[in-house]
Amino acid sequence: MPSVAIKSMREIGLMREAGQIAAATLVEVDKMIRPGITTEAINTFVHEDTLRRGARPAPLNYRGFPKSVCTSRNEVVCHGIPNDQEVLEPGDIINVDVTSIYNDFHGDTSATFYIGDPSPEAKHVVEVARRSLELGIATVRDGSRIGDIGAAIQEFAEGQGCSVVRAFVGHGIGRIFHEDPQVPHYGRRNSGFRLKAGMTFTIEPMINLGGYEVDVLDDDWTAVTRDGSLTAQFEHTLVVTKRGCELLTKRPEPLKNSERFDMKW
Ligand code: MF3
Ligand code: CO
Ligand code: CO
Repeated sequence: MPSVAIKSMREIGLMREAGQIAAATLVEVDKMIRPGITTEAINTFVHEDTLRRGARPAPLNYRGFPKSVCTSRNEVVCHGIPNDQEVLEPGDIINVDVTSIYNDFHGDTSATFYIGDPSPEAKHVVEVARRSLELGIATVRDGSRIGDIGAAIQEFAEGQGCSVVRAFVGHGIGRIFHEDPQVPHYGRRNSGFRLKAGMTFTIEPMINLGGYEVDVLDDDWTAVTRDGSLTAQFEHTLVVTKRGCELLTKRPEPLKNSERFDMKW
């Protein structure tokens, strides 16, 4: 059994501030992202916006990661490295994953953005990923179990003809970027350890249009779908409460380049 910290009210207040900074930066990314820019430009923007808010970008130098944000485009599942050769093209989908450190605590949140008009397939995988996160979040309360989250996500995503990545999971978060518990996005209802009010963790399902297998490129970071299919991801940091949970990275406003479509599931 993992040992999972229960944060105090004071610590949760500090984490809320960190989460709100990450969320605000993601909203600003939404306002600058467009066809023709490079992922390096997103990195520069996130780096500077984070510092302006008095925070630090957690990815930079984390286990050797060379940039301040992860930018994962089309078949890149996660941990894409921004660079000045990669230009956003109309029809792309791209996840931007922002993690800020403020008050010594981490706030971790991501969204997948549409660049121009998405293909029906791109729209499908992005909207399945968005809904998967919502359904996972909806299971969380004091006394629910870690397996309830993954079961809700897996059942929905597979029912929509998509697959759930196994190789990367959500994670406990606090003063440490990745701590216990591990939060799989697949699993069985009523299994795994019990959640308690005051636990803080992320849910961040990676949903593929094809198979769930991934490969990591020679840069030791970039994870891609093995079959080259499109993939999408959304992430929130949350705290478990008596009756549900609070999203610490709740956005101050909707994302115009992501929240464009209202699906009737
Ligand atoms: N933000 C990612 C997550 O959701 C982790 C990125 S680690 C990095 O857990 F080093 F690539 F930044
Ligand atoms: Co995370
Ligand atoms: Co993240």
